[in-house]
Amino acid sequence: MAQISAPRGTADILPGESWKWQTVERIAHHMAALYHFAEIRTPMFEHTELFNRGVGETSDIVGKEMYTFVDRGGHSLTLRPEGTAGVVRAMIESNALADQGARAKVYYIGPNFRFERPQAGRLRQHHQFGVEAFGVAAPEQDVECILLQMDFYRRCGVKDLELQVNSLGDRESKLHYRDALLAYLSPKQAQLGEDSQRRLTTNPLRILDSKDPRDQEACLGAPPAAQSLSDKSRLHFDRVQALLAAANVPFRVSPALVRGFDYYTETLWEVVAGGLGAQNALGGGGRYDNLVEQLGGRPTPGVGFGSGIERLLLALEGQGVALPRAEPALIWLVAIGDAALAANFKLLAELRAACFACDMDPTGRSVKSQFKLADREKAAFCITVGENELAAGTVVVKVLSTGEQTIVPRAELAARLTELTKTIE
Ligand code: HAM
Repeated sequence: MAQISAPRGTADILPGESWKWQTVERIAHHMAALYHFAEIRTPMFEHTELFNRGVGETSDIVGKEMYTFVDRGGHSLTLRPEGTAGVVRAMIESNALADQGARAKVYYIGPNFRFERPQAGRLRQHHQFGVEAFGVAAPEQDVECILLQMDFYRRCGVKDLELQVNSLGDRESKLHYRDALLAYLSPKQAQLGEDSQRRLTTNPLRILDSKDPRDQEACLGAPPAAQSLSDKSRLHFDRVQALLAAANVPFRVSPALVRGFDYYTETLWEVVAGGLGAQNALGGGGRYDNLVEQLGGRPTPGVGFGSGIERLLLALEGQGVALPRAEPALIWLVAIGDAALAANFKLLAELRAACFACDMDPTGRSVKSQFKLADREKAAFCITVGENELAAGTVVVKVLSTGEQTIVPRAELAARLTELTKTIE
């Protein structure tokens, strides 16, 4: 029968590489805990309306990239293209932001779905580690998120990072900026691509992050967002920069950075890394002070970031950086004869109950084949049991890296294995 392949733009995380994902996720959980963010898990699909209203109907994500379907109950649902809108929905729905001044810091790790053209570092299902901080409008909260993101990269070992920051300002600044862009781009309308000619009336900001070379050329001398900032927004952005400098985090102000979501206000940022090629954004974030209200909650400021896990792993690979491997040492049980096989099956349970990672081959293969299998499975130790050992109440422990063998009384086995596993951790 014909084989069925994985859908285009998806990737399996196979057993040989899942340890890398576990390591990155462990670091993410750990960093989030250090910064006092609590985990939130929201559904992988939501009402389509949430993204239309939250992410914005004029964004590329909503306009072109959503996996939207009508379920058997006739509801329009969408696989989440990003994490922020769902988190905001859940925070409002659970009344977590109901009190004035309520503060909440949450993080998530999970898949997102975008119908994009797949290429290296761009998938139709990708995974993000993201954080969202609610209730604090002060620039300190923007910078706490950035520091957490940079710390996460540092702990994973990524090098060659550049933090780019920009500000769109508050609602009033964004409206000014829209007018300024409209004034600049309207005379160039004929030069723009078809999509951007339409965007000129719907959302001229989107033209700035268009990939179309015609649009990019038209935008070359466009006014920067900084020129339209209100006094309050200017102060906010200045303070973000001062706090980053005080924390010794290098950054570059990137006037063209607008990012692809309508919900952003004030600070925006993106971290790019070497070794990634064209899709070089490791992660990005920003402030969204009107989103909670726009989705039906009490007005509450928010700020956060999302960071792609596939891109992080690609960057590490491109930079030749190995993640720390922290799997427990594997112990392989080898049986000589049927009686030993039965005894080993019991021993396996005892060792697992004592928190040792162990396995065996229960098919009655030759001793040589059992040792071969232990090698293939990258076991650190073998425990061999035969008739003699059964009679004597002992086992033979072999360290596979050195070939060293010792006879160990059964009663002392757990203590001996604890010692041995310590030497290789
Ligand atoms: P985003 O910039 O769209 O932001 O995505 C965040 C990161 O997810 C990107 O920098 C990239 O590493 C990764 N990513 C996005 N799309 C793909 C893809 N198709 N394939 C592989 N990786 C991808 C957001 O999603 C916002 N929700 C971030 C945020 C949170 N802003 C405030 N809070």
